[in-house]
Amino acid sequence: MNVLTYGTFDLLHHGHLRLLERARALGGHLTVGVSTDAFNAVKGKCCHEDFDTRVRRLAALPCVDRVITERDWAQKADDVRRYGIGLFVMGDDWAGAFDFLQPLCAVRYLPRTPDISSTQLRELLLKEQVG
Ligand code: CTP
Repeated sequence: MNVLTYGTFDLLHHGHLRLLERARALGGHLTVGVSTDAFNAVKGKCCHEDFDTRVRRLAALPCVDRVITERDWAQKADDVRRYGIGLFVMGDDWAGAFDFLQPLCAVRYLPRTPDISSTQLRELLLKEQVG
C-alpha cells in the first residue's frame, strides 16, 4: 500500500526519522511531500535549510521511496489520487486536521517523538552563533 506524508523536515532529526520509518512500515511504499521555501513563508515557518537541502537529505533515506513538492494546502487530495495513496500519515500534533481526506484514503496520526523538534535545533544553532 502506498503511504503519503508531508512536512518541512528542517534539520532532519530522529523525531522525523521515527515518523518516516513508522509510516513506511504501515504500507511498504512511502511518498514524502516537502514544503517549498515559499509555502513555508505562507505558513509563517522559518527554516535553517533551503528546499533543495531538505529534499536531498530525505531522498537519501532508505525508508523514503519518493519525494514530491508541497506548494500549497490544497494539493493533498490531488496527490492522493495521483499517487494511488491508501494511507495518509501525520504526527499527532496534526490530529484531526486531515480527516477530510478520509473519503479518498485512510488517515492516521502517529504519536510525536517527545523532546525533539526543528525549532529546538534552530534555537541551539542560534545560541552557538551568538555565543
Ligand atoms: N514529528 C514527530 N516527532 C517530532 C517532530 C516532528 O513525529 N519530535 C513529525 C511531525 O508530527 C510531522 C513530521 O514529523 O508529521 C514533520 O514535522 P516538521 O514540522 O517538519 O518537524 P518539527 O520538528 O515539528 O518542526 P518545527 O519545530 O519547525 O515545527
